[in-house]
Amino acid sequence: MITRRDMLLASGGIMIAGGTLTSSTAVADEAKELFFHSTTPNNAEPKLDDLVKSWITPTKHFYVRSHAPNPVIDPKDFQLKVEGMVNRPSSLSLKSLERFKTRSTTATLTCAGNRRSEYNAEGKVGGVQWQSGAIGNATWQGVALADVLKEAELTPDAKHVWFEGLDEIEKGGGIIPFGGSIPIAKAMIASGAGAPLLANSMNGAALTPDHGFPLRTLVPGYIGARSVKWLGRIVVSDRPSPNHYVATAYKIVKKTDPIDWTESGPIYRYPINAAICTPNANTNTKLSTGEIDLSGYVLPTGRPGSTVKKVLVSADQGKRWTEATMVGKDNEFCWQLWNAKVKVTAGTKRLIVRALDTSGGFMPYRVPWNAKGYLQNSWYQLPVQVN
Ligand code: MTE
Repeated sequence: MITRRDMLLASGGIMIAGGTLTSSTAVADEAKELFFHSTTPNNAEPKLDDLVKSWITPTKHFYVRSHAPNPVIDPKDFQLKVEGMVNRPSSLSLKSLERFKTRSTTATLTCAGNRRSEYNAEGKVGGVQWQSGAIGNATWQGVALADVLKEAELTPDAKHVWFEGLDEIEKGGGIIPFGGSIPIAKAMIASGAGAPLLANSMNGAALTPDHGFPLRTLVPGYIGARSVKWLGRIVVSDRPSPNHYVATAYKIVKKTDPIDWTESGPIYRYPINAAICTPNANTNTKLSTGEIDLSGYVLPTGRPGSTVKKVLVSADQGKRWTEATMVGKDNEFCWQLWNAKVKVTAGTKRLIVRALDTSGGFMPYRVPWNAKGYLQNSWYQLPVQVN
């Protein structure tokens, strides 16, 4: 796989991450240090050793998941439409959003397809072949979605809020935008760590084109697909969005058949998950016997009140488990990094991590295969060779 850096060095180009924006106020981030699964559109994840260098993921190490090339948006012309089951529909410029209270939150974003490639051992799954790097933890700033909806005055039938991006995705012979949808009860949380934001900033800088400049939703605790980038339209409705990425994609199905799509509901929340990041399959898994250091991440499910209880590692196929120590804030919507030491013996075939949460949730030994390869949270098992 080639990296963005390789491409830029090869072309002698200027390092502008994913940028096609024409406006002078568009901000390009520092060069992405990721490996790219594709570049049109950008789909990329960090090396796992980079991922666990800090609790806040620098933007250069933050995964990118896009279904179409970044749209070209001039912030001067930008308007966010708010319509549907509201008494006061509106069209808001970036300037007019400034009248709402600025809010900031630190939250982890993860793709429902994170760890997808592990399903291939059981049956091939299509889509971006994510390893375990489609996850990152950032500080987001913007305004509360709830504040904007309150001003729009919801009508009594309002039950769901749809989001529509300004990207143009080729699908079924036509062009569609990327869409998301969340229940009204989640949308109306105005403050605290779980409040959905209309974010214009990530890690203290304007959103970069790859991450949704000039405005995106950020829905803490929900799969990344609900955090719609390049947000152009909000629709309040009595039902979930009919957009392909809510009505069909991002569902757990055994087969990609109309019956399966209809029977299965949209995924909102992700389950508890963890991975070993050092050592990792891309660097060195040839180990000598003796004690070694392991590190990784753990993400609790985004349920209010549920946090990580324990992270356990094993080097003997689960006969003995060692508890890892945690680094970072203990919060329902953020990951924590962890460190542990395990004793590698001649019989060690794999290093394993699993985690438990305070509401009885756990990473299972095996997750039933699903056709789109979503929500892989089985024990994370790293094959190793011992000298
Ligand atoms: N929003 C738009 N408009 N288009 C997209 O392709 N991808 C979604 C979501 N929002 C997407 C989008 C998915 S699947 C994920 S996981 C997150 O954005 C990834 O956000 P990031 O690229 O900022 O990491």
